[in-house]
Amino acid sequence: MYLVGVTGGIAAYKTAELVRLFMREGNEVQVVMTPGAAQFVTPLTFQTLTGRPALVDQFWVSDGEKVRHIDLASAARVFVIAPATANTIGKLARGIADNLLTTIYLAARCPVVVVPSMNEQMYLHPAVQENLSRLREHGCLVMEPDTGDLACGICGKGRLPELSQIAAFVSSSLREKDFRGLRALVTAGPTREPLDPVRFISNRSTGRMGYAIAAALAERGAKVILVSGPTALPRPAGVEFVPVETARQMHGAVLERFGATDLVIKAAAVSDYCPAETAEQKIKKGDGRALTLQQNPDILEELGRCKEKQILVGFAMETEKAAEYAREKLRRKNLDLIVLNDLTVPGAGFGSLTNQVCIFNRAGGAEELPLMSKELLAHRILDRVRPLVPARP
Ligand code: CTP
Repeated sequence: MYLVGVTGGIAAYKTAELVRLFMREGNEVQVVMTPGAAQFVTPLTFQTLTGRPALVDQFWVSDGEKVRHIDLASAARVFVIAPATANTIGKLARGIADNLLTTIYLAARCPVVVVPSMNEQMYLHPAVQENLSRLREHGCLVMEPDTGDLACGICGKGRLPELSQIAAFVSSSLREKDFRGLRALVTAGPTREPLDPVRFISNRSTGRMGYAIAAALAERGAKVILVSGPTALPRPAGVEFVPVETARQMHGAVLERFGATDLVIKAAAVSDYCPAETAEQKIKKGDGRALTLQQNPDILEELGRCKEKQILVGFAMETEKAAEYAREKLRRKNLDLIVLNDLTVPGAGFGSLTNQVCIFNRAGGAEELPLMSKELLAHRILDRVRPLVPARP
């Protein structure tokens, strides 16, 4: 059960939507409000959404002799306090238990996520910052507020973060850190092979699958290096980012770091060929000539040849004889797993938010996974990878 604490800030109205988001993810939600929060949003709103009374009264006792706040605290998987006002943050930091929410906080042993939201001047006040540091020292996971238009009419830091970001932060705080201590290298995106200063050969990869894998590894405790070709995606948090452009640059960046990694996942769509020559000046219309290509190094094949204890996971992108080609690549590149993207499946492959893959292992096994978001798929792939990687002392 998710315990959601609402305190008396104007962003309290957004918590109604946050609660719906948690419920859509399949979680049961119990809401606890401070009396101040109940001035902004009625408990009935939350009761209607969650199907459970939203609790405000500290001295409300259920089930005869059971002590309500201890009960709730021990039933919670996570306690999310959003919005958290300066007043409540101060009380939590100092152990003051003068309402149901602050009392439950002291009894809770589950992860506690605190999402401050207030006016910028209040947020930046040393007293609030000191209290937030204290909460971090006590083990709370404190989210940074967003910057933007605030209810007080100014633009500044203090907005409640996007609800989807809060939900992602919460699920990451619950994720088992089963890759802790492992060093992972992920490649993602396309490569660009320049013809001249303005043109290049590339492919339709957006990098989304590789970025999702890098983010999922970081969430699960791995130390992650993401070697990425050009993409329009934001860099995943908590990941060392190495931007490259060409296949040769990617080759150099990966080989340089390979010795110090336990696991490589090569989701990049590497261009197999580059122009034999790159013109120094823009090629003009009249310069019409045949394009001569030369082969780029196969990075993964090279890793397969020189690997020691590293686990290698490749991707295969196919449009015909998919399973046959994927198995052949697994063997030829000496991989531990290969993830097959069949471009003929609707909703799979380049640019889409979802993917449908089949994972092949060395023993000849094949596992077809259903269509799902690339974020979820990243975790499903990691679930298959984890047993293959030896734990580090
Ligand atoms: N790969 C690589 N270096 C290359 C080409 C591919 O490291 N020069 C990696 C990709 O990152 C992917 C896997 O090899 O993990 C398979 O890529 P794919 O393009 O499907 O296969 P290719 O080996 O290029 O074979 P083909 O183009 O003939 O299908």
